[in-house]
Amino acid sequence: MQELGGPGGKTIPGARGFIPLIRPSVGEEELEEVRSVLRSGWLSQGAKVRQFEREFATHIGAKYAVATSSCTTALSLAIDALQLKIGSEMVVPDFTFPATANVVIRAVSTPVLVDVREDTFAIRPSETAKALGKKTSAIMPVHPFGHPFETDELYELASRKGIEVIEDAATAIGTKYKGKLVGASRRAVCFSFHPRKLLTTAEGGCLVTDDKAVYERAVALRNHGQVADKRGRIKFRYNGLNYRMSDVHAAIGIAQLKKTDSIISSRRRQAELYNEILGSSKLDIQLPLEEEWAYHTYQSYVIVLGKSLPTNDRIIRVLKERFRIETQVGTYSLSLQPSFRGTLSVGTLRTSRLLYRRSLTLPLFESLSEEDQVYIVESLASASRL
Ligand SMILES: Cc1ncc(COP(=O)(O)O)c(C=O)c1O
Repeated sequence: MQELGGPGGKTIPGARGFIPLIRPSVGEEELEEVRSVLRSGWLSQGAKVRQFEREFATHIGAKYAVATSSCTTALSLAIDALQLKIGSEMVVPDFTFPATANVVIRAVSTPVLVDVREDTFAIRPSETAKALGKKTSAIMPVHPFGHPFETDELYELASRKGIEVIEDAATAIGTKYKGKLVGASRRAVCFSFHPRKLLTTAEGGCLVTDDKAVYERAVALRNHGQVADKRGRIKFRYNGLNYRMSDVHAAIGIAQLKKTDSIISSRRRQAELYNEILGSSKLDIQLPLEEEWAYHTYQSYVIVLGKSLPTNDRIIRVLKERFRIETQVGTYSLSLQPSFRGTLSVGTLRTSRLLYRRSLTLPLFESLSEEDQVYIVESLASASRL
């Protein structure tokens, strides 16, 4: 085993460099696309955004795509475009990034937090059923870390109740449920193109839908609520905001889209290697699960630290300070965050709260070598003993 951290967390001179959590797969192709936009003189939402939307929708198998400034604004746009009632309740997993529930609060509605499965980290359909009441207007399930949620079960619940589903697919580009890509043939699915995601536009997001009316409202709402009449005159039909993506960002996405499949294949190979090394390490951890009906993209490779190991905050600190490896919590338990104190919830949210303290995301990116992965696992083993 290579011990590189010196006493007091000092790094031994000549040791390997810092290993970040993510390094986006960007290069000459993205530069060339961005250069062409800068040369064109048109930088804001224009032809490149339209091209990216067409290509992204085709890639996913959706009829329409509406590019936005982030997944957060795409989620917000979905709530508005579906015309969900102000003051309604929307069911959200407790174990997610705060954006999923913040958009509900910003829409003057109430999130109802529900527990997740400990193996796939996805919202539990049985708990979701308990959260549905007279005021519920939508379920907002999250595809966690590139693994799909139990899609049939949740859509079945929603259709029985006559409510909407808004899929938070921030991490689910290329994810498949029962062989079908997430985003295909649905009413509202939102993706993120943040650099930690499989396809990046630096910052960006997208709402995809197969519903023409939802699409048309979303296009207007993204751009101050404006629509052009038959003669091309602008009218402000809705009180929309500015959620637009720029052509500079879309250009990066156009280049990235060509690489997405190979990025996913490489992540799946690397995840398999992590599974092998971690599996034979005898560490007290839970490896990521890929259900037999799922195609996992490993947008994040998330393990769960067993009870005999320190909690994730300590492991994260030691790995950073002594081994120069960046790791992260899986994601957050919303009910434990100050901004969600007193939020409605179902049950004790026990699993989500446990995962908040015990989940750990390991570095994963295309240029991470096999040797790096071995070093990360060995360092994790050392950190667990310190
Ligand atoms: C599940 C989930 N939803 C929403 C978001 C927000 O995405 P964005 O940063 O593109 O707004 C994130 C960001 O990591 C996320 O993980």
